[in-house]
Amino acid sequence: MTSDALMNNYGQRGLSLVKGEGAWVWDDQGKRYLDALAGIAVCGLGHAHPAVTAAIHDQSSTLVHCSNLYNIPAQEELAEALKAASGMSNMFFGNSGAEANEAAIKLARLHGHAKNIDIPTIIVMENSFHGRTLATLTATGNRKVHAGFEPLVRGFARAPFDDIEAIQTIAANNQSIVAVMVEPIQGEGGIRIPADDYLKQLRTLCDANDWLLILDEIQTANGRTGSFFHYQQHGIYPDVVTIAKGLGNGMPIGACLARGPASELMKPGNHGSTFGGNPVACAAAVATLTTIEQDKLCERAATLGASLLEQFTLALTDCDIVKDVRGRGLMMGIELTLPCADLVGQAADAGLLINVTADNVIRLLPPLTFSDAQAEQLVQILVPLIKAFSAEG
Ligand SMILES: Cc1ncc(COP(=O)(O)O)c(C=O)c1O
Repeated sequence: MTSDALMNNYGQRGLSLVKGEGAWVWDDQGKRYLDALAGIAVCGLGHAHPAVTAAIHDQSSTLVHCSNLYNIPAQEELAEALKAASGMSNMFFGNSGAEANEAAIKLARLHGHAKNIDIPTIIVMENSFHGRTLATLTATGNRKVHAGFEPLVRGFARAPFDDIEAIQTIAANNQSIVAVMVEPIQGEGGIRIPADDYLKQLRTLCDANDWLLILDEIQTANGRTGSFFHYQQHGIYPDVVTIAKGLGNGMPIGACLARGPASELMKPGNHGSTFGGNPVACAAAVATLTTIEQDKLCERAATLGASLLEQFTLALTDCDIVKDVRGRGLMMGIELTLPCADLVGQAADAGLLINVTADNVIRLLPPLTFSDAQAEQLVQILVPLIKAFSAEG
């Protein structure tokens, strides 16, 4: 039972997880689960990774917090490492994905006002997810996320995902567009992968119109899709990119990175966050980045992801409730023809943690450190559950 001292926004939560090691977690009854969700793409190195634990321990026994009134060496070290990993120019650190996206939205507005546009407007996508603060929930293309929180924030226009023409049509009728904000692969929206040339076409459109291309890589970055950032597979740079989730392997941290003119927009006093870029979160993120690089985890995500896709595709070919099996790296979705939220509990009973998003998409985001044996176990547990679900349905 979830304590009634907590607000009910998450509803009743079945399991109490108390311990983790690598891709395994244990509940308060001592039952062990294979974690194919990693805190929704957060613990990319698995749980209690020794390098991250040591970094948190060392930093927290030296200095836990100091204000952004002062230089924070761990923050600067992380910024340099992320700059090198991304090819971006500079960045702002917050504590979450939503906060990183708020910074991106503020950059777009600064960009618009610099051009004397009174109501700078950002094109955002249907079916998207960008967070739960007021601006980011407005940017989110899901009515359920908006409901009850009106009035929404001004300055957003919505286009269907993966539809360049729709964006051109909006732009032809709206002179206030200043940016396009998009997830390279929609995560919450059901692991939706756009056409191969979508990002490149968006880049061209943004260049032609002097709009900022803002990529929300909060779920896709940190090696998840087989490269550190997903845009690196498309031969483009965004003007602004946001990152969070896997950045601190569980320590709360997010960042908004900018490049070119967008990196010159923030001025002293424009923006800030008390805890943003704090020493402990930054030390954990530096250790995470170093480990991703040293252990070649982007490459591992690419090869293991391809192998898992193949295994699932083969094993589920004649399962008539399976509509599609798709993914990039270790960001995978199995789309069914019917709602399948019940599979989450059934999988947990069988000792496996998964997630269902967009009602009918089984979402798999295992740690990048998943072993071949763990991948095999995942297939062995999940496939029979899907087949049995098919028989029930
Ligand atoms: C693509 C994307 N953007 C933004 C967010 C919001 O991140 P946070 O929950 O850290 O605020 C999420 C979280 O799921 C996400 O997947």
